[in-house]
Amino acid sequence: MKDLFEKIYRDKGPLGKWASQAEGYFVFPKLEGQISNRMKFQGKDVITWSINDYLGLANHPEVRKVDAEAGAAYGSAYPMGARMMSGHTDLHEQLQNELAEFVNKEAAYLLNFGYQGMVSTIDALVSKDDIIVYDVDSHACIIDGVRLHMGKRFTYKHNDVESLEKNLERATKMAEQTGGGILVISEGVFGMRGEQGKLKEIVELKKKYNFRFLVDDAHGFGTLGATGAGAGEEQGVQDDIDVYFATFAKSMAGTGAFIAGDKEIMDYLKYNLRSQMFAKSLQMQLVVGALKRLDMLRTMPELKNNLWTIVNALQSGLKERGFDIGTTQSCVTPVYLKGSIPEAMALVRDLRENYGIFCSIVVYPVVPKGIILLRMIPTATHTLEDVEETLNAFSSIRERLQNGTYKRLSAAVAAAMGE
Ligand SMILES: Cc1ncc(COP(=O)(O)O)c(C=O)c1O
Repeated sequence: MKDLFEKIYRDKGPLGKWASQAEGYFVFPKLEGQISNRMKFQGKDVITWSINDYLGLANHPEVRKVDAEAGAAYGSAYPMGARMMSGHTDLHEQLQNELAEFVNKEAAYLLNFGYQGMVSTIDALVSKDDIIVYDVDSHACIIDGVRLHMGKRFTYKHNDVESLEKNLERATKMAEQTGGGILVISEGVFGMRGEQGKLKEIVELKKKYNFRFLVDDAHGFGTLGATGAGAGEEQGVQDDIDVYFATFAKSMAGTGAFIAGDKEIMDYLKYNLRSQMFAKSLQMQLVVGALKRLDMLRTMPELKNNLWTIVNALQSGLKERGFDIGTTQSCVTPVYLKGSIPEAMALVRDLRENYGIFCSIVVYPVVPKGIILLRMIPTATHTLEDVEETLNAFSSIRERLQNGTYKRLSAAVAAAMGE
């Protein structure tokens, strides 16, 4: 019989196999200093374009003050236990009520982490006779939620309403046989490339097909819509989203998440979300901190306006300089370049070491072979000078990519490593 660990000794997995070349630099990098537009990476000052602190709340003095006071008042343990047993408080309830009102739903329920919360939401909404139809480019938390499903599931082509409709036809036929219902899942904003989910077109299909609609609006909440209520508000279809999900990990610069919808559905989920029923309640410091952040989202529209000033300057500047930023319709700002993985690594080193720009890099298999995706997250703390400096750096590295500098550098590194 084999040792269980044998496969681990042999194969570190699709990402783990790159650990010796990438760890500490491309993956698990350590950004130091206060969370802001400029931080330190390996002792050097860098403009940070990789932190989802959209509204700049992470280090806002008022937020820091409330976080510190709540920490002093409650410590980091309170309340102990799961919500259902001993972890429920008035403030948890107050936050739920305020969140529901903010996103225009009857009720909301808090989740410890968005990831687990989404997994359990999907798990609780469907039984084995039901059918799930979801976007093929969904976030891992959706994919893992779907993995728990004992019944049928179909993916549709990314953000492709025609493909969704084809799959809805198949799902409808199947549901007629099983006696189940249909759950459609999309993201409000797809976090890698920045397109908004086609929520408006999807809810239009409700006229023809019978389904319920779950939207993961992690990147839309706080950044889109007139009041910041997200992609549903932006597209005028918030009422047609049956279960709305957002995390505190982005605009709210915190930890935790929530779902919102009709009261009867939220009441059901409250008693059936396994990751919440059998895990410790969201700690009070985070609840008090979230109440403060939500209040700022509501009362300080200048935060979202500042964010969009930076987003617009960055995205229009990139386009004016001829960069391909794909089809983004949100703050997420991708830049697509052409090159191999070793070239991408040399380019990112150059950006960080010589131009002081820190952004995330995405390569094959997440994007097609030969594509380098540099992904930038603008925030309200960035300045127009940060944008200008970044645009100039991008123009330079594009020139160096095109004149073969990174090919030569990567070949030299490969030779030094004996490859
Ligand atoms: C689209 C999407 N859904 C869900 C999550 C998970 O949320 P959390 O970080 O609260 O677990 C993330 C990442 O934060 C995300 O980008």
